[in-house]
Formats: sequence, C-alpha cells, structure tokens
Amino acid sequence: MNKEDLFKKVISHAKEYGFIFQSSEIYDGLQAVYDYGQNGAELKRNIRDYWWKAMVQMHENIVGIDAAIFMHPTTWKASGHVDAFNDPQIDNKDSKKRYRADVLLEDYAEKLRQKAEKEITKAKKRFGADFDEAMFRETNPRVKRYLTEAEETVQRMAQSLEKNDLADVKELIEEKGIACPISGSKNWTEVRQFNLMFSTQMGATADGANEVYLRPETAQGIFTNFLNVQKTGRLKIPFGIAQTGKAFRNEIVARQFIFRMREFEQMEMQFFVRPGEELKWYEYWKDQRMQWHQALGLNPDLYRWHDHEKLAHYANAAADIEFDFPFGFKELEGVHSRTDFDLKAHEKYSGKKLQFFDPELNENYVPYVVETSIGLDRMFLALLSAAYQEETLEDGSTRTVLKLPLALAPVKAAILPLVKKDGLPEISREILSTLQLDHNVQYDEKDAIGKRYRRHDAIGTPLCITVDHQSKEDQTVTLRHRDSMQQERISIPDLPAKVSELVKISSLLTNKS
Ligand code: GAP
Repeated sequence: MNKEDLFKKVISHAKEYGFIFQSSEIYDGLQAVYDYGQNGAELKRNIRDYWWKAMVQMHENIVGIDAAIFMHPTTWKASGHVDAFNDPQIDNKDSKKRYRADVLLEDYAEKLRQKAEKEITKAKKRFGADFDEAMFRETNPRVKRYLTEAEETVQRMAQSLEKNDLADVKELIEEKGIACPISGSKNWTEVRQFNLMFSTQMGATADGANEVYLRPETAQGIFTNFLNVQKTGRLKIPFGIAQTGKAFRNEIVARQFIFRMREFEQMEMQFFVRPGEELKWYEYWKDQRMQWHQALGLNPDLYRWHDHEKLAHYANAAADIEFDFPFGFKELEGVHSRTDFDLKAHEKYSGKKLQFFDPELNENYVPYVVETSIGLDRMFLALLSAAYQEETLEDGSTRTVLKLPLALAPVKAAILPLVKKDGLPEISREILSTLQLDHNVQYDEKDAIGKRYRRHDAIGTPLCITVDHQSKEDQTVTLRHRDSMQQERISIPDLPAKVSELVKISSLLTNKS
C-alpha cells in the first residue's frame, strides 16, 4: 500500500471505528479541530498514562502538576509569545487561500529530497549488492543537484526569517516558481507575520475586561510554578516538573488530520539543572526519550533525530525526534536546552526571585532548563498509522488489524459467548465482571464469531476470550491472540493473571532498548 493510500485509509478507519471525529460535524465541522470517540479517548488516555508513568512515576526527582489554561497575560509577554510567536503568512490572490511561507518552501525542499531518494532507490535496484550509496550520493550529478538546492533553499529561508527579511522570503518563493497547490497560480501577496495565540476577554463587564490568552504551550505553567513546587516538594536540583494538557495555536495552515491542530494536547517536562550541566542532561533526556519511543516495539527505522540548524535565541541545543508519518518524516517531539531564559524573563517581569539555593555550592542561581515536549495527538497519529495493516489470510480472506502495542490498546480483551444461549452468556459476564476490575474489556455477543474477531482486530483488541460449550464442562475458554491469531485453551481462574501479564504497562517501562 502506498503512503497516500495508507493515510486516507487511516483517516477513514479512525472515523468508522470511533477513534476520531471532526469536531461539531453536524454543523459541517470546524477546521483543524477534532473530537476523540470512544476508542480514541481510551487510546489517548493510555498514551498519556504511559508518558506520565515513564516520566513521573519512574523518576524519583520528577513531579507532575496540572496548571490552568488561562494565565496572567504578562506571562506571555515574558515568554516572548506576544512579540515573537509568529508564523510568516502569505495569501494567494487568486485562490484567496492562506499559506505559511516557510511551509511552502519546506515542502518545495522536501520534494527535491524525495526526487533524490527516488534516484537512489532506482540505482540501488540497478546495481544490486555492489551499490555504494554514500559514493552515489556524493557523485551522481542529479542527486547532488537536488540535495544542494534543497539545502540552499532551506538555509536562505532560515537566514531571511532570522533577519525578519520577509521580502526575501517572498522573492525566494517567486524564484522557485512555487504555485498555490489549489489554483496553480503564482500571484502572491507580501509575506506578513501572524501571531498564533488565541485571545479572549476575562471579566464580567466589558469595562473590567482583561485580554487573556489560551496558552499556546503548557511549559509556562511549569515555569511560573517553579518556586511553589520546588519549595513545597522540597526538591533539590536536578529535578523535573511535568504536565500534560491542552494548548491552542491559531495555525495558518492546519492540515494533515490531527498532525497540526488548533486545539491539541502537549506532554511536557522541564528539568531544572545547575548552569553548566545542561548539555550533559540534554544528552541524557535525548537518550531517555528515544528509549520511551522504542520500547513500544515499532520499527526503529520510523524514528530519526533532526538537530535544529537554527537555534532559538534562548536555546543552546535542540533536536527533534521525527517520525515517518504517512506524509513523510515530521516532528513528533522536541528536546530543547533552553538555558535560564524563561526563569530569568519571569524574574524580570514579575520582580520575584526564581532561584535555587544550592547547598553543595553554597550559592543561589537561576537554574538552567532542559525541556522534553511531545504532542499527544501526534503520538496518537504515529501509533495509528504504524499499527494499521491489511492482511491476506491463508484462506484468501482479508482482515484489517490495528497492531497497537498491547498495553496501549483501547480495549484489552473481548469476551465472546459462542452462542447467546445454553448458559454461555452468564459465564461470559462473570469473566467480564472479574476482568473489568483491572482492564477496559468488552462483552460482545452479536454476530458470528468470525465477524466479532474482525471487529476487535479493527480496533486493536489484543485478546479475544471465547466461551463455548466445553467451558461449561471443564471451566476453560479459548484465548485468541490478535497478531498471530493463534488460539490456546486456558482455564477461567487463570485468566486474570494471564491477561494482566500480556497487557501490563510495566512491560513498556522496563523494556528499554
Ligand atoms: N514548549 C515547547 C514547545 O511547545 P513546540 O515544538 O512548539 O515546542 C512541542 O511544540 C510539540 O507539540 C511538537 O513537537 C508537537 O508534537 C506538538 N505540537 C505543536 N504544535 C502542534 C499543533 N498545532 N498540533 C498538534 N501538535 C502540535
């Protein structure tokens, strides 16, 4: 299946099986805003739990908080979001469509890279085992030309954006002959900066109203609570504060399903360290975060590191974990060494000291911060697209199966009486009431057993427990495994331990690659 087809199928599967719906769909939806359905909400909760357990529960020096979405407006002045949380926008005069100028150029560069990769794949096929890929990349004129142009385009764009030279960004778009993907027209407006924060009014009357923002990242709630948490938790450096929660960005280009949304959820952790030790911790967190991903057991080739070429003025190192989504490698998570920029800025704007007294050094300092930041919705999309598979079975029939990591599956086990009579539903419901104490499990008696297996394959249920007439005789059931479709006979009293063993989240927390 090619990637474009895969993406279309993942989107329609997500809707058909209750994972993701367009927000307010009965009113034709709201662009780039989505709702999670009954299975989506479970999967999302399981991903969040896995993150929380790995970050907070498994680290004795990390605690979790839950800060409000609304914050004092000065927060966003101090953080730089009021003045600089902008994207360069450009409109096409004919189609009236709005784009991010940097995205148009990045897409252009990506197409060049894909052309180079195509040449390399072709050559690989032609030369077989003798193929020297590194040499080919360096010497093939076409590949070199594509890759150099891609590199130069991105670099010139980065430099122009750094200098806020928006005229040059427009010139670059025109030089490259980039056309509006909808109309094919090259009739562009000037490039302008567009602030991504949503604002609203707080207060009962218009007079007393105060402009507040919907937070564009969860991180600032951690910085503003730094002293509260450090003091009340009696935490010593190095320590971390984690939180998960909604963030809002008025994205100009909202596309690729739940990849870029206007309302989304982040899982962030700020790790406070001694100045001068931040790069050591940056490496540590890069390593930890990649282990978190790889413990899920997906193909390791789906992940790669991307070091930021252009560092934000407050960062002294930054890298993204990119994932091979159905539309190519894109950012999934960021690890950033943010120096003391945020705490110092909040000291300046609030007039409060945000420092730590280090008893070993006998001095006060503003800690440096290493941040890990991942979008929960992006992680959801990564898992869903890697899990979606269409298989042809031995008898020639096909099945669609979501091979989700067992511990994250929305429903852990389905309990299926073979027929709706002869006491089998009663035995099934007894099993249900035992298993549901620990897991999200479902009872399902409708349709033929094969159809019920397919239904649960499609939502990624790892285990199907079938109660049949033999169950009445010897207190055993069949346990069917989703991925292998193999069945084993198991005694009913052994079920709770067996199911827990197979779907436990602790296997992800200890199974570090
Ligand atoms: N505190 C740092 C920060 O917010 P970011 O790179 O802007 O950094 C972190 O965002 C992560 O949040 C991204 O790696 C991505 O997974 C997720 N994210 C950002 N914007 C998003 C959007 N519009 N929709 C979905 N996820 C988004």
